[in-house]
Amino acid sequence: MVDVEVSLRVDGTDHRLTVDTRTSVLDALRERLGNTSPKKGCDHGQCGACTVLLDGRRVNSCLALAVAHDGATVVTAAGLAPAGQLHPMQACFIRHDAFQCGYCTPGQIVSAVAMLAEAAAGWPSAVTADGAGRGGGAVVLDDDEIRERMSGNLCRCAAYANIVPAVAEMAR
Ligand code: FES
Repeated sequence: MVDVEVSLRVDGTDHRLTVDTRTSVLDALRERLGNTSPKKGCDHGQCGACTVLLDGRRVNSCLALAVAHDGATVVTAAGLAPAGQLHPMQACFIRHDAFQCGYCTPGQIVSAVAMLAEAAAGWPSAVTADGAGRGGGAVVLDDDEIRERMSGNLCRCAAYANIVPAVAEMAR
């Protein structure tokens, strides 16, 4: 066990903390900084409940070691609405009733916000259902494309029938 000091800027606030080298960003956020916006579902990269923006990219924070991200900027779902105003994606989720228990919702919303930025930047989906990949070119965010790009975020209540329209409202 080795302790190291790391700096993280979380939802606009700078933090310096001492963590074990095995501490994930998720545990640093939740256990050390009291930021419970990202949730711990599987703790091994399968569910997406822990999704945050790490230097602008969506990541499963349970898989990211804090020591490897010294100096990073982290944005959680809570940080998307720093002034107490809902982020438009949060408002879309409410309008479409895009949750049941709500446990996956912070990760879903962070992932959706990042996904739209990725699509706007022309990032192709990595893999299609037939495994062929989509290649470059204009991105059309139809419901199938949204499902593909959000496939890393699971909802154990299976509220996808409302999640996809919520994301689609923002996408179009
Ligand atoms: Fe990180 Fe499930 S808790 S992916």
